[in-house]
Amino acid sequence: MRPNKKDTEKKIEALLQELTLEEKSRLIHASEFFRSGDVPRLGIPKITMSDGPMGVRNDFYPAKWRPVGTTADAVSYLPCNTAIASTWNRELAYDSGRVLGREARGRGKDMILAPGINIKRNPLCGRNFEYMSEDPYLIAEMVVPLIEGIEENDVSACVKHFACNAQEWERLWVNVELDERTLREIYLPGFEAAVKRAKTKALMGSYNLVRGEHGSQSKFLLTEILRKEWKYDGLVVSDWGAIHDTKAAAESGLDIEMSVFPNFDEYFLANPVIEAVKKGEIAEADLDKKVRNILRFMLRVRLIEIEMKAQKNGKTSAKAVPVADRDPGYFNGSAMHLYAKKTAREAVVMLKNEKHRLPIKPSQTRKLLVIGNNADRLQSNGGGSGEIKALYEVTPIMGLTREYGGNTEVRFTPGYYVPRKIRPEVSWQEDSVSPEVMLDAEDRDKRKNSAKEKELIKKYREEAVRLAKEYDEVVIVGGLDHEYDTEGCDRKDLKLPYQQDALINAVLDVNPRAVVVMLAGSPVDMTAWSDRAQAILWMAYNGMEGGTALAEVISGTVNPSGKLPESLPSDFKKTSAAVLGDYPGRKLTAAEKKKMNATLTQTFRDGVFVGYRFYEKYNVPVQYEFGYGLSYTEYKYSGMTVEKANGKDALFTVSVKVKNTGHVTGKEAVQLYVGEKVVSEDNPIKELKGFDKVELEPGEEKTVRFTLTAKDFSHFSNESNTWQQMKGRMVIYIGASSADIRAKKEVTLK
Ligand code: GLC
Repeated sequence: MRPNKKDTEKKIEALLQELTLEEKSRLIHASEFFRSGDVPRLGIPKITMSDGPMGVRNDFYPAKWRPVGTTADAVSYLPCNTAIASTWNRELAYDSGRVLGREARGRGKDMILAPGINIKRNPLCGRNFEYMSEDPYLIAEMVVPLIEGIEENDVSACVKHFACNAQEWERLWVNVELDERTLREIYLPGFEAAVKRAKTKALMGSYNLVRGEHGSQSKFLLTEILRKEWKYDGLVVSDWGAIHDTKAAAESGLDIEMSVFPNFDEYFLANPVIEAVKKGEIAEADLDKKVRNILRFMLRVRLIEIEMKAQKNGKTSAKAVPVADRDPGYFNGSAMHLYAKKTAREAVVMLKNEKHRLPIKPSQTRKLLVIGNNADRLQSNGGGSGEIKALYEVTPIMGLTREYGGNTEVRFTPGYYVPRKIRPEVSWQEDSVSPEVMLDAEDRDKRKNSAKEKELIKKYREEAVRLAKEYDEVVIVGGLDHEYDTEGCDRKDLKLPYQQDALINAVLDVNPRAVVVMLAGSPVDMTAWSDRAQAILWMAYNGMEGGTALAEVISGTVNPSGKLPESLPSDFKKTSAAVLGDYPGRKLTAAEKKKMNATLTQTFRDGVFVGYRFYEKYNVPVQYEFGYGLSYTEYKYSGMTVEKANGKDALFTVSVKVKNTGHVTGKEAVQLYVGEKVVSEDNPIKELKGFDKVELEPGEEKTVRFTLTAKDFSHFSNESNTWQQMKGRMVIYIGASSADIRAKKEVTLK
């Protein structure tokens, strides 16, 4: 049975009293790259952490960015957070969380540094693949089950990066300015749901600054909002190298300073904080708050229990002891790989399918040509701290070869040339906190192909075109990879790298039926060929069974049900970050730099107009819209009803009937949006306030129900600094996407 709160706090207090100042300091900063400090005298252990959102990262030496390198730390490689969001399936988020948490425990971790839920405001951001969506409601609805799944295993999630971490360009040194409404309506809700609904046991601060304070030592974010307003009593760790000042860190809601350098005793919350307390510059009570959160965290993940002992002198002593029946976890279980596959199957998004180009039935296919380096590329071992040493990874070519079997000749040709790994090896993370690392992007984007490489590019393309003439069925697999979807740098535009446009057009010239697959963690410009292609599939880094899932969709074994968790703009210059925001930010003056310890400042002038909120409001066309995804069947929506609700704070119940009018079973993510009938100048036209995914057999019809509360019709007012419910005529939209509205009803709010 769960110990009661009072009893727990009493034990924490008793153990706290035992600690010296030096010992308190040990607990609040790293003793290794992925462990906090310990106090063996009192049985207080280190907290063991590991990246990342797609699985449990391989082990490094305690204080060297070098993998331990045994074969013992290969793990399940899950679909990235963008892929999980593409499923619009809360159960799969929960299942993915359970796998991630159980594997983390099985690999001896107390905390997994996941999920990443920053708003995908800027499609150039290198880490978009590690985040879920441009929409705060979709993020909140998917992050809660994901964290709940993780934390079932005596291990903690660590939702990150709190907050407004929307670019990699000078990520430690860019300050973000934004108004309160934008913060409350767009950038905080995912974290608020993680804290208040999922009760996440840990959270990670961000590298960037918000309103002049570094995110991981921010009084505004970590004390005012997180601790005071949200009453969060969980653990807060900094991002690695995100602390810059002892006093700010000591007096903010941060608990543990982590970093990428091995000089642990010189960390801001190490010797410097001991000195500062001794000099009276910092109150020891501020350290006590941190230690309480750390001990409470250890109790919550059952890393320790606290034993109290009455002493002869009437006092009680306390010490930490291990928990005998703590969940041991497990990893690489076949059931885990099955969940990875189930999630991957629902993460594939079909963007186009003219003339029923897809599926390509195996029984009718003798020869299948697969063109494109991404068909044969392992993606798991890249992307920065999110990299995964996968037990195995089914690539698209492996998936297709297996799916089509021995009666079909499946032939691979690379199609486009990818230069050897452009970015430096593992020591990258130590460099990653210095501005110089941004040069990677320039190296990558400015590098010129050698004459030999130019020759190879030509040869690969010619070979692909020659073969494409001979094969009826051709699948091109291109997109991005972790040279472009990666931590530490942003892309410079949305163009496909490696001259893929030329390849795709050259193949379509000789084989107009070629199917195109984009494997990417963020939007790419497909306008050079998307009108010509009859069929286009989209898949974010989809885990160890991503190749299986893709092949099963192509063959028709699986009916695709993924929907875009983010809009796919064709040009960065037409995005909110470019049109209204001033990405990557204005260079600070010398005085500003000194005051803020930053280099850039960027105002999120796009405000709440992020993603589809922006494209709809400003009439900017996108390639494919938020919430869009096709199926091998069709769905008819009918009989929408809206009734007044008499629940606690429920205003309306909405229902709609959805019928599968096709010939194959399918799943449909039905979406509900809300907006004013006459849209006022500073409000989005519509906003996602509900979704549900239903499975329907051919001919089957189900009723999908939603409940709307006052909050769903409210905006945060900068004037009154409170949430205000809108008044007057509202429209409730039911859509198969944000633009494909199938039904709507008006209501009046008093
Ligand atoms: C990295 C990332 C963070 C990661 C941490 C540890 O720089 O910003 O997401 O969990 O440091 O690798």
